[in-house]
Amino acid sequence: MIPLSVPEIRGQEWEYIKDCLDTGWVSSVGSYVTRFERECATRVGRKYAVATVNGTAALHIALLVAGIQPGDGVLVSDLTFIAPANAIRYAGANPVLVDAAPHDWQIDVNRIRDFLRRGGRERHNIKAILPVDILGHPVDMPALIELAREFDLIVIEDASEALGAPVGRLSDIACFSFNGNKIITTGGGGMIVTDREDWAEHARHLTTQAKSDAIECVHDEIGFNYRMTNVAAAMGCAQMEMLDEFLAIKRANAATYTKALNGIPGITTMPASPCSSYWLYTILIDENEYGMSSRDLLANLADTDIQARPLWQPIHKSIPYQDAHVLGGQVAERLYRDALSLPSSVGLKPDELSQVVEVIARACR
Ligand SMILES: Cc1ncc(COP(=O)(O)O)c(C=O)c1O
Repeated sequence: MIPLSVPEIRGQEWEYIKDCLDTGWVSSVGSYVTRFERECATRVGRKYAVATVNGTAALHIALLVAGIQPGDGVLVSDLTFIAPANAIRYAGANPVLVDAAPHDWQIDVNRIRDFLRRGGRERHNIKAILPVDILGHPVDMPALIELAREFDLIVIEDASEALGAPVGRLSDIACFSFNGNKIITTGGGGMIVTDREDWAEHARHLTTQAKSDAIECVHDEIGFNYRMTNVAAAMGCAQMEMLDEFLAIKRANAATYTKALNGIPGITTMPASPCSSYWLYTILIDENEYGMSSRDLLANLADTDIQARPLWQPIHKSIPYQDAHVLGGQVAERLYRDALSLPSSVGLKPDELSQVVEVIARACR
C-alpha cells in the first residue's frame, strides 16, 4: 500500500515523550509546550505563539480574539477542508465563500476586491478575511493585506497545510494544524501565531477555560479546554527538528512528479510555487483528453494499492453551507471534479513514486 500522507517518525520523538512520562509532565503545561510555542513563533517569524489541542480549535480562538462577533461576515476560501468555515460558525459569524483563482487554486483576491468595491462589506457586515493556504502553497498575502487595510478588515490566516512556506507572518493572526497527515505532526495539535500580545494573552486565557486566578478556580468569561498536552508538544519539538529535511524531500518529490507527469495527455500538474511546502501533490485530469475521469483514475490507483484523494467538496456544496453567500464557485467545482492528490508522504520512496506515475501513464487512453 502506498499511502496518501503518513507521518514520518524517526527523530527524538520517543526520547522526548519518554521524558514527559518519566517526569509526570503529561498534561497541558510543561517545558515542551513552552519550547514548541517558542520554536513555532521563531520559525514563522511572529512574536507570540499559543499551542492548541488541534487546528480547528486554533481557528475558533483566533476568530474570537480577533473580535469576530455573532452576525459578522467573514470572507473565507470556498475550496478548502471544512474546518475554517465551521470555526466561523462556532463564533456565530457567517461565512461568505470565495471561489478559488484558476491560476493558483488559492482564494481569488480579484473576486474579493470586486465584491468589496461594490459594497459587499456593508451588505454582508464583513469584518475579516480568512484565507487558507491550500495544499502547502501560500496565498497572495501582500495583495490581500492591501485590500484588508483599504476596507479595514482583519486577516485571519489558515496556514494549517503550509508550515515551512512563507506563510503566517503577514496576516494579523494565523493558525497551523499538526494533525497526523500534516507536514509535521503532534498526533493532534494546533498553533496560533500573532504579533499582538493582547490577542496572544487572550488566546492563552480562552484556551485554558478562562481561569482568572492562579490558585482559585474562578473564571471571567466562557473559556474552552483547548490546550495542547506536553506529550503532544514533545512530539512536535522532535518533528520540528526535521522540518527542513522534510520540506527538502517534499519539494524534490514534487519536482519529480511534475517532470514525470507533464507530458501525459490530459494531465495538468499543480501550479508551481518554489517556496511552497507541497503538502499534497495534486494533479488535474481532463476526462476527454485523458480518457478517464478523476474518480475512475482514483479507482485504478486503488486497485494497485495506491491511495490518492479528491480535493474537498466546495464548501458551498456542503449541506450545512448551502445557504451561505458565495462569490463564484465554478473554479472550485471544477477542481473538485478533476483534481486528485497523489501520495506525498515524506517517506515516499523513489520506486513508489515511479509506480504512481506508471499507473497514471498506463491508464491514459
Ligand atoms: C486547511 C485546514 N484547516 C484546518 C484544519 C483542521 O486542523 P485539525 O485537524 O488539526 O483540527 C485542517 C486539517 O486538518 C486543514 O487542512
